[in-house]
Amino acid sequence: MDIELQHIHKHFGPVHANNDISLSFRGGRIVGILGENGAGKSTLMKILSGFQPMDGGEIRINGARAAYTGPQAAIRHGIGMLQQDPLDVAAFTVLENFIYGQAGGLTLKRREGRARLEQICRRFGFSLEADTPIAQLSIGQRQQLEIVRLLSQGVKTLILDEPTTGISAEQKTILFNALRDLAARDGMCILLVSHKLEDVIALCDEVAVLRGGRLVGTRDMPATTGELVAMMFGQELPPQTRQPLNLEGAETVLALENLTLRGKRVIVENLSLRVRAGEIVGLAGLDGSGQEMLLRACVGLLKPVSGRVIVGGETLTGAPYRTFLARVVAFGAAGRLEEGLVAGLTLTEHIALVTETGALVDWSRARCHTQERLRQYNVRGRPESRVETLSGGNQQRLLMALMPACPLLMALEQPTRGLDVDSARWIWQQLLARRANGTAILFSSAELDELTAYSDRILVFYAGRIFEIPDASRASVDELGRLIGGHFDGAAGA
Ligand SMILES: Nc1ncnc2c1ncn2[C@@H]1O[C@H](COP(=O)(O)OP(=O)(O)OP(=O)(O)O)[C@@H](O)[C@H]1O
Ligand SMILES: [Mg+2]
Repeated sequence: MDIELQHIHKHFGPVHANNDISLSFRGGRIVGILGENGAGKSTLMKILSGFQPMDGGEIRINGARAAYTGPQAAIRHGIGMLQQDPLDVAAFTVLENFIYGQAGGLTLKRREGRARLEQICRRFGFSLEADTPIAQLSIGQRQQLEIVRLLSQGVKTLILDEPTTGISAEQKTILFNALRDLAARDGMCILLVSHKLEDVIALCDEVAVLRGGRLVGTRDMPATTGELVAMMFGQELPPQTRQPLNLEGAETVLALENLTLRGKRVIVENLSLRVRAGEIVGLAGLDGSGQEMLLRACVGLLKPVSGRVIVGGETLTGAPYRTFLARVVAFGAAGRLEEGLVAGLTLTEHIALVTETGALVDWSRARCHTQERLRQYNVRGRPESRVETLSGGNQQRLLMALMPACPLLMALEQPTRGLDVDSARWIWQQLLARRANGTAILFSSAELDELTAYSDRILVFYAGRIFEIPDASRASVDELGRLIGGHFDGAAGA
């Protein structure tokens, strides 16, 4: 299947999100769609997959003009997109969900559906049980189900927007093998939007790079990370340097004593931890292994079953979140639009929530503050924009802009998730500056190199069990990967 995009335009108010983009994709190829946060990647992919109408331009499929509206119509044209947060009907089982997407709908015999599901899963090594309720699936399994559904609907072009966020290393290998196989054996065209350049290097045959809504260029792979970065940002980025900090004599900012935390899936038992001013503790592990619970317990968002939480020498166990906030503890949630930011509110309204502490909000002052912060934090968006219209990366920057300047302790869930390379570095510059002023930082991450690069210490979580790497500078990414998979035995740690 050959696809040609011709002179695609898309405006959102004054933002020219796609500006005269012409690109063609051929079957049998895996194409990386790259570009900084807000470059227009998701917009272009949503237009191609029918999730968004374009303002101008044309899509041609195998030489013929294709005009379609809506994702179902795009699927009939052979183009399907994997949504980052699949909208499953949660009360269904895997099989019901699979059948639901078929032509003929629920009338398709269950037995036929089951056989087809099992056949596709066997081919790709997907681990989907027909009778499992959707609610029990991991992010990686939900993604597998989406792929299986799109394939059984006859999709010939598969679009994936940042598909490796939140899935395990093993699931990533299975996903990448499936994508390679679909391109090589079935001649499918795979479009992969990603900020993870090592993934792009491992998988793609060619790349297209967007910047500021325009196409900057395309090239065949292989290319080095440096070459891709130069295309994306117009320059190579200088190597990252980090000032080691002498923590000797630094006071304890956070002490956890014999803490037991109970979540839906895991229990963390009897955890004791001391974090000193200026210390950075990285939390490694698959999603849902207990690290999120620890971060929440440190800021009063999760009540421990037993044990004590001591912040700045004061026992705060069981105190509400606002008491922790008053001690200048900051929290950054991974689910930006679920927890950190409020959809429907503008950027000014968000900034006003943290800067306007009086009973009455002075909106002109709030607007000034907002402009100042947006500039300082490099957020691409206007004060009057609603927060959900920001690109993923800009939402993350806004979240940083909402945090206090000199907190005692920051607890951050995946602070650079979805950020382009340059933005991720920028966030770390901000964090390292705070750490130099004595802020202690606890952060979780799925990126092993981020954990080894910035942590002083790493705690590896596996099903609620914890393994400590006391000197992160001596941890290798390989070793860390093994620990995350639960292979604690024989490892040299605490
Ligand atoms: N629904 C919308 N309403 C208003 N503006 C939007 C909307 N969707 C996207 N934009 C704007 O269009 C531009 C391109 O956004 P897009 O989401 O396509 O970027 P992206 O390249 O996918 O970025 P990221 O890497 O951060 O996901 C951004 O400036 C964004 O704020
Ligand atoms: Mg995007």
